[in-house]
Amino acid sequence: MKFVVVGQGAIGLLWYSHFVKANLWPALLCSPRADETIKHMTLIDDEDQQHIFSLNTIKPENMFDADVIIFCLKAYDILPALKDYREEINRNAQIILCHNGIISTQPIEELFPHQTIYTLLTTHGSKKLDRFTIKHTGKGQSQLGELQHTSHNSRQQLTAILNKACPQVTWHDDIKHLQWLKLAVNCVINPLTAIYNINNGSLLQTQYQSLIKKLCEELVIIAAKENVDLNSDQLIENVRHVAKVTEENCSSMLADVRNGTTTEIEHINGYIVHLANKHKQTVPANLSLYQQVNRLTTVKNAK
Ligand code: PAF
Repeated sequence: MKFVVVGQGAIGLLWYSHFVKANLWPALLCSPRADETIKHMTLIDDEDQQHIFSLNTIKPENMFDADVIIFCLKAYDILPALKDYREEINRNAQIILCHNGIISTQPIEELFPHQTIYTLLTTHGSKKLDRFTIKHTGKGQSQLGELQHTSHNSRQQLTAILNKACPQVTWHDDIKHLQWLKLAVNCVINPLTAIYNINNGSLLQTQYQSLIKKLCEELVIIAAKENVDLNSDQLIENVRHVAKVTEENCSSMLADVRNGTTTEIEHINGYIVHLANKHKQTVPANLSLYQQVNRLTTVKNAK
């Protein structure tokens, strides 16, 4: 099986390096902005061991023989990338989308009507130390499920390979429910760490608990309107678990704010605000974080 990882962000490089370690000979498709002269990447694993791997970078036109393409991109970059690379993707390739937040699947299904599209939810903590150096800061887990199903399906084999490369990866028929659980994690951890400029683990402190509860309760109400049954105690427990296992991690949103790059807020708390408007509900806690993160990035970008 030929694997291509799209995206040289913290999670893209995490998967790329784990595929190399598992002898799966992956290729990496970097964004056009990346520095193509760099030939190696460094992984500092969760036991602080350093590994250096050659970078097998490819151009989009060399992607056609890929069997599995895993897009590890920001939520807002997924659809543009799929549009850009549509002609380069083989009809039999399996496409995996790995991003925070929730994006609309309809335009993706229209672009690739004959392909199996998977979503991969991950709670691994991965921190970029420089452009091609990452530190695996928190051993999380990943959940794989289908967004779109076609008959050419080898889900067991795919799950087993991903699991061998970067465990634990488990298959889930009800991925929508898990997308909401991950959304809750990102609705709490990402904006709060970005606004208060703290690592994930700081969210375990007492001062944040009532806001975390409020955010989770709002999510439960909105999810119910979308026919997703959630439980706020379960959401809170899950958020605390992820904050604990990634405690020394700087969330992707805090990293974006520090780097002055676009955050995924639109697809995280922004998604909840959008659904609340659709269902004529109010979500004051989520709305407030959405506005505060937008203000943070506007102020930073204006400087
Ligand atoms: O976006 C992130 O940073 C990650 O999804 C997570 C799981 C919150 C860990 O930092």
